[in-house]
Amino acid sequence: MKRLAVLGHPVAHSRSPAMQEAALDAVGLGGEWSYEAIDVDPGDFEARVRAMPGEGFVGANVTVPHKGAALSVADVLSETAREIGAANALSFEAGEIRADNTDAPGFLEALPGPVAGRRALVLGAGGAGRAIVWALAREGAEVEVWNRTELRAAHLCEELGGRSVTDPDPAAYELLVNTTAVGLRGEDPFAELPLRAADLAPSQTVVDMVYGAEPTRLLAAAEAAGATTVDGIELLVRQGARSFRIWTGREAPLDAMRSAARV
Ligand code: ATR
Repeated sequence: MKRLAVLGHPVAHSRSPAMQEAALDAVGLGGEWSYEAIDVDPGDFEARVRAMPGEGFVGANVTVPHKGAALSVADVLSETAREIGAANALSFEAGEIRADNTDAPGFLEALPGPVAGRRALVLGAGGAGRAIVWALAREGAEVEVWNRTELRAAHLCEELGGRSVTDPDPAAYELLVNTTAVGLRGEDPFAELPLRAADLAPSQTVVDMVYGAEPTRLLAAAEAAGATTVDGIELLVRQGARSFRIWTGREAPLDAMRSAARV
């Protein structure tokens, strides 16, 4: 059995095991490969990862709060992971640990069209925001970054590109991306973030990395305004599809992954 896993803390809520198991089944690898969720305390992360190759694991996704630690434990970094400073996919091969970042290219794939020259506002300057700003800046978007703690946005932009802003006019952007945790526990995005429902428009694309059983309040308002929306499940599917290709060498069955992730 070739084993795969997602490492997080907490991780019980993750849709990755159902999504990746469905993908393995759909390409006929279900009998030979498995994917499980493993809750790992931050203090145990490195030892846990180092033990995995000996336990039959060939790869792992890494989620909050381990994406920075995943970079430190690796012997080989992809260019994307190194530049972003975070990794969400590890592979174990020939005694080496390799770290990739599939969040950034997965995000670009989930967008409805190219972003070169487009004005984009990224809300949040945490780990999730880093991958998004890196991806947008690299594609030639005009990226601006707002964060509740201003200094964090300024530091992120110095490192990865984009311009930090403190009082953005949300109507001025073609692309709005929420990478903050706002909405995870039902918080009101229009109270916590510099957004007004009345400014959302059909010409905009609104992306919310937060996902749950229901559309978030931000995406519900964006849909009501006629904007194009991309939700956190679609981002999960896209990063997962790229991880799947790295490990198995097979094209990922996107539709099977989507329906399993959405249940
Ligand atoms: P992640 O790796 O998921 O990005 P993180 O590094 O802890 O996690 O970052 C969480 C992000 O959500 C940060 O941008 C945080 O803002 P601060 O840097 O000011 O802490 C943002 N965030 C969390 N709760 C928020 C709230 N109520 N209002 C605005 N931003 C919030």
